[in-house]
Amino acid sequence: MHEAPDQPSARAEPGIAELLAARPWLSVAPDVGLMLDEVPLARLAHEHGTPLWVYSDAVLTARYRALEAALAGAALSARIHFALKANDTLALLRRLVALGSGADVVSIGEYEAARRAGFAPQAIVFSGVGKTEAELSTALVRGVGQINVESAEELATITAIAARLGLRAPIALRVNPDVDAGTHAKITTGKAENKFGIPSDRIEPLYAEAATSPSLRLIGLAVHIGSQILALEPYRRAYGRLADLVRRLLARGLPVERIDLGGGLGIPYGTEPAPPPAAFAAAVHEAFGAFRLPLIVEPGRWLVGPAGLLLSRVVLQKEGAARRFVVLDAGMNDLLRPALYDAWHGIVPVDAARLHAPVSPADVVGPVCETGDTFARERALPQFAPNDLVAVLDVGAYGSVMSSNYNLRPRAAAVVVEGGTARLVRRRQTILELFSHDMA
Ligand SMILES: Cc1ncc(COP(=O)(O)O)c(C=O)c1O
Repeated sequence: MHEAPDQPSARAEPGIAELLAARPWLSVAPDVGLMLDEVPLARLAHEHGTPLWVYSDAVLTARYRALEAALAGAALSARIHFALKANDTLALLRRLVALGSGADVVSIGEYEAARRAGFAPQAIVFSGVGKTEAELSTALVRGVGQINVESAEELATITAIAARLGLRAPIALRVNPDVDAGTHAKITTGKAENKFGIPSDRIEPLYAEAATSPSLRLIGLAVHIGSQILALEPYRRAYGRLADLVRRLLARGLPVERIDLGGGLGIPYGTEPAPPPAAFAAAVHEAFGAFRLPLIVEPGRWLVGPAGLLLSRVVLQKEGAARRFVVLDAGMNDLLRPALYDAWHGIVPVDAARLHAPVSPADVVGPVCETGDTFARERALPQFAPNDLVAVLDVGAYGSVMSSNYNLRPRAAAVVVEGGTARLVRRRQTILELFSHDMA
């Protein structure tokens, strides 16, 4: 077992029954097997093929409302801005628009997705450490609510572009608070050695200087310390530092309209505990309640992670020299997280009989020609036959967005389950489309 914090420890690795018990949106009927929100997954595989991303509208909606209620319950005026990097499926984005969400984007592609989904320009925050001049100009011309500035160098670029366009760029400075989020090294963003944000001790002079520019509208400060954060202590430390900076800016009479607290709230991938939104909201209140300023939070994973599963067929089961391999028709090109972060995802059979069959250790792998194309090692699973279905759980965040065409494999289709029916919201890429960009 690896020590990535987004996986249960070997001792605590939950079984199939425990995984299902912790996810009430999944249920089992003896005749049709595993269902999502009462829709049989076997039917979806039959109708739409596999691999297939399956999203629950009800889970996404419930999670959005729970977070919104927790923030309001802590007497905070906080707006949720969904981080599109976690999932860019337009159908899900449209649901979030309807729920009242804003957006956090990190590229002009995500900006375009946000606009297509119906987010108002003013509801879009543009973050990212390497926004190009073309991206910044486009966002400024088409309209954007806030640009999170990641360096003094970027601030100079934005000022010049805004001056050229005759606009005032709405900006917030992203603080690097030098706090360890206690998460996987590849998704830690708030330490001094990370590329993100501006060191705390440079914020005050830069903000004061920016306040003198007619081409800038100062909105405030932003922070984001990492992803899949399962403890509140790193938030408390980072938010404490951010609050100190806000106090100092206000004491100097500098304008602060709003504070952007980033995302990062973690979810259980097994059955491990994760902070409830009310506890997160209480930590936010502790640091920022007294300011009585509007706040932004930018969750991605917490909102959408548990709302998605990847439905895949067993191509074959093979007995290797050292272990049993279950070979799926989904690969690391579909779901990269296990290969990229050693991430742990629950994997459960869809067939009712297999759900209750005796289990033994098996490696669950994809068809891609990489040993890293492994979804699970020594996982307690039943025997499988070709064409059996499995569901890889909690892949709604950082799942389909990271898909590639590696090994010339088309990108999978996606359906949203809503009110007892499933709607195809992204069709499967065709083999012909894989060649549509080649010029010769
Ligand atoms: C600036 C910013 N905001 C929000 C997020 C969303 O993070 P998460 O999906 O962990 O909530 C990220 C992701 O790393 C990010 O970089």
